[in-house]
Amino acid sequence: MKAVTWQGRRDVRVETVPDPAIQQPGDAIVRVTSTNICGSDLHLYETLGPFMAPGDILGHEAMGVVEEVGSAVDAIKPGDRVVIPFQISCGHCFMCDEGLYSQCETTQVTQMGTGAALFGYSKLYGEVPGGQAEYLRVPHAQFTHIKVPDGPPDERFVYLSDVLPTAWQAVEYAAIPKGGTVVVLGLGPIGDMSSRIARHHGARVIAVDLVPERLARARSRGTEVLDLREHGHDLPDTVRDLTGGRGPDSVIDAVGMEAHGSPVAKLAHQMVSMLPDRLSAPVMQRLGVDQLKALYTAIELVRRGGTVSLSGVYGGAADPMPMMTMFDKQIQLRMGQANVKRWTDDILPLLIDADPLGVEEFATHRLPLSAAPEAYEKFQKKQDGTIKVVMHPATA
Ligand SMILES: NC(=O)c1ccc[n+]([C@@H]2O[C@H](COP(=O)([O-])OP(=O)(O)OC[C@H]3O[C@@H](n4cnc5c(N)ncnc54)[C@H](O)[C@@H]3O)[C@@H](O)[C@H]2O)c1
Ligand SMILES: [Zn+2]
Ligand SMILES: [Zn+2]
Repeated sequence: MKAVTWQGRRDVRVETVPDPAIQQPGDAIVRVTSTNICGSDLHLYETLGPFMAPGDILGHEAMGVVEEVGSAVDAIKPGDRVVIPFQISCGHCFMCDEGLYSQCETTQVTQMGTGAALFGYSKLYGEVPGGQAEYLRVPHAQFTHIKVPDGPPDERFVYLSDVLPTAWQAVEYAAIPKGGTVVVLGLGPIGDMSSRIARHHGARVIAVDLVPERLARARSRGTEVLDLREHGHDLPDTVRDLTGGRGPDSVIDAVGMEAHGSPVAKLAHQMVSMLPDRLSAPVMQRLGVDQLKALYTAIELVRRGGTVSLSGVYGGAADPMPMMTMFDKQIQLRMGQANVKRWTDDILPLLIDADPLGVEEFATHRLPLSAAPEAYEKFQKKQDGTIKVVMHPATA
């Protein structure tokens, strides 16, 4: 089959690889009909190279049709239409019983000290072959699937794999009081969708980014936006002016560790990336690649007693946190990988009839799998208006 493989820093290629097969009784094989590129894939493309091996298959936002199931799987059968969550979870351990599917104790990558295994997400998360491919092997398929109805187009449902539950959890964790205000940092797919969900819940949303088409897209849906290129120095004052001098009740950080405006960390990261992988992986795990600009901004902006909700991915332990400010302002901080299936029942009704969150128009690019190398490059450089790319392996 054809698959998108990681080959090195900023080097992905579409290669022919062996078709996946059932290996465990709990596996299923899915023929992939739609598969997205995610902002998290850019961390692999750019930063987390030391944890990747050439040939690793990327991707964790796939949906398709079940081809084959192992002997222990009876919740789905060949022909069923399914979305595959980005995390692999068993559905019956202590953590899964708590709804903390991204912490599943059956699939935790204990060797690396990380949570549930993820599709296509480096040795840190189990080095499981990902879904940017024609076929995907789904371990723990009895639970690791979301059945969706036949009929509506894939793009109604494909974001259930990641964007929708991540954004939904970001908004839940932000604990915006009724009638309250949230600032959303970053208008990539996660920040954009978080803004839509928060507004759907009745919150006032002020969103910040620095890419013109991302700002324009949010503005066109009625979200108040601030352009970081104009407000790089006075963002806190501007936001306070817009929020009665107090600051927003909540801030969602949907930027993560490649934040614009973290020059020192960028240099450190480039130095680490010049080391051979066997040296740089331990250095990165200990010191990390912290680029905490957006997180610092979130802590500065939020009102006293407010909540910061982190959905952007961070790695490492090098940068200090502003503990005095956090303590003095009495800030709540919530974070983590989204627990995908925790939110499915809340989200699905919004995808069936009307489309209040605008998922059908969400993708900016619809491409065959063979276009992945250019798509990654344009997404990373934020060129060609690339915000969300959906690939269709069948047309590869
Ligand atoms: N928690 C989860 O389960 C989960 C799931 C998916 C993605 N993520 C993470 O969420 C983050 C966002 O994902 P995405 O797909 O939207 O990525 P993205 O890279 O498309 O979006 C990030 C946006 O932040 C903007 N930005 C950069 N620096 C900024 C700054 N200082 N202030 C404000 N905006 C700034 C960029 O211009 C960009 O539009 C990533 O870190 C990703 O890894 C987390
Ligand atoms: Zn993703
Ligand atoms: Zn579990």
